[in-house]
Amino acid sequence: MNCRSKAAHSEFPTAHPMDGITIRPLDFRLSSKTSDDCIWNHRRPEYAVFLNALGVHVPYFERYLVFALRKARSATHDARLKNDQGGIIGQEAHHAHNYRQFSEVLFERYASLRPIDQRAMQYFEKRALRDSDRRLIGFTAGYETFTFLAGLLLLDEFDDWFGDSDPEIAAFWIWHQVEEVEHGSVAFDTYKYFYGKDELYRKWMIVVAMFHLARETVAAYRVMMVAEGWVKKPRLAFARSRFCAWMLLRFARNALPAFRKSYHPRHHPLVTNRQNLVQQGWRRFSASGGDVLSIDRDKVEELIGSALRVSGRE
Ligand SMILES: [Fe+2]
Ligand SMILES: [Fe+2]
Repeated sequence: MNCRSKAAHSEFPTAHPMDGITIRPLDFRLSSKTSDDCIWNHRRPEYAVFLNALGVHVPYFERYLVFALRKARSATHDARLKNDQGGIIGQEAHHAHNYRQFSEVLFERYASLRPIDQRAMQYFEKRALRDSDRRLIGFTAGYETFTFLAGLLLLDEFDDWFGDSDPEIAAFWIWHQVEEVEHGSVAFDTYKYFYGKDELYRKWMIVVAMFHLARETVAAYRVMMVAEGWVKKPRLAFARSRFCAWMLLRFARNALPAFRKSYHPRHHPLVTNRQNLVQQGWRRFSASGGDVLSIDRDKVEELIGSALRVSGRE
């Protein structure tokens, strides 16, 4: 993949990526993947392992989110917010469905992952039943700070993460990340709608969510490191552990603007300074009925080319 796809952005005014939420009921048929496909980034296996580890507990959070926002939606009287809540609920339900298919494939390669998966499921199921309304929405908004930021970071570094990857798994991640950005302000807006003045709790929930996300990711990453044999080589073990820590620190650092009182996800520096061309091109391609279930190098170039043409740079 040439350098055009790495951090390709348009500086020209375009529609804001959070302007519309489209429910796309896609099925990536990830259950047909094999144990060998788990290391889907052939050039940088640690990138694949990091996202695989991050993704183990995510479907259970997504179900928690669906539960929390369904409940909030029934008490929301703002038509626009209600519409957006319907959008995020639809998108996240489809994400969870696809993630679960891939988790089953991961268990074939990493049998020790099952207890971690089960623990995550039980944690979110219990919390959904026990949490107060404020905690349901606050924790959801805290978590969504990171899912939307992860979307932006990954799409900005598309070539490193997906440039030499399995086309179906790359397509699944691109779809997920584009939609995470698209609905990136809905949980925040819902929290503000109900608990707008309680800024301290909103910020506390970002911290709680970050630690939870890090704990789940590190637990799964450690299992995968052992199974891949990386821990047998001290220098490799150090480098791969450092990569995981570095990525989590990047998530945390990019969340810092969310601690400002005036913060809104629409105005996060990663969203406003530049518009990612893969993201723009993917949306356009998908809306025109293009096949987004498999994305290889040529298709990415096509997506970027179409976004550039619209922004007037080609
Ligand atoms: Fe999601
Ligand atoms: Fe999300």
